[in-house]
Amino acid sequence: MLITFEGIDGAGKSTQIKELVRHLTGQGIEVLTLREPGGTAVAEKIRHILLESSHEISPIGELLLFSASRAELVQEVIAPALGSGKTVILDRFYDSTTAYQGYGRGIDLEVLRSIITVSTCGITPDITFYLDLEPEEALKRKFSKTSIPLEFEGDELDRMERSGLEFYRNVRQGYLDIMHLNNKRFVRLSALDSVAAIHHRIVALLMERFPF
Ligand code: TYD
Repeated sequence: MLITFEGIDGAGKSTQIKELVRHLTGQGIEVLTLREPGGTAVAEKIRHILLESSHEISPIGELLLFSASRAELVQEVIAPALGSGKTVILDRFYDSTTAYQGYGRGIDLEVLRSIITVSTCGITPDITFYLDLEPEEALKRKFSKTSIPLEFEGDELDRMERSGLEFYRNVRQGYLDIMHLNNKRFVRLSALDSVAAIHHRIVALLMERFPF
């Protein structure tokens, strides 16, 4: 079974993933946790180019690099793990590409769809937990400030995070549109709720839909 987590940077995905892994492991369920981009030797190099470098990357170049990283991870790790019956938890998968490269960078959604199909070998999540947060709130969490600049600079930010507030507003709109198109798979959770409340909701939904 494949469980994915989505949301804009700062929505609290990693905390929820840790909580869920602890819960499932406690139930004796073997879990493999991965994050995108990255997860294989080549994919980690691509991650470095995408996030840590200061190079300008074109929207199409960015799309293909995220997709190349995904293709490596799917073929080397995700497909074999699912094939051997493991539960895989992924911090971001192709919905990130639709939200960030489609809605954020403005790449045609039909073009995205075919690249996504190729890079994932057609693998789709069984369930996606989307932690919804307004970009302003996410940036407050990141900067611990009340006034948020429209363009960001600074060493503490990766290349994607320097894209600015308008970009993040479009990304969030992308996630909301994805939710409307996939209302069975894609579960919205308010990231403003407490960590414990979100975790309980995730566990309850998993137990209800997929009694392990
Ligand atoms: P990461 O440091 O993993 O951040 P986070 O904790 O927010 O997940 O950085 C991943 C960044 O890459 C994040 O800004 C989202 C972006 N991204 C895309 O733009 N497209 C994609 O397909 C993926 C997987 C990530």
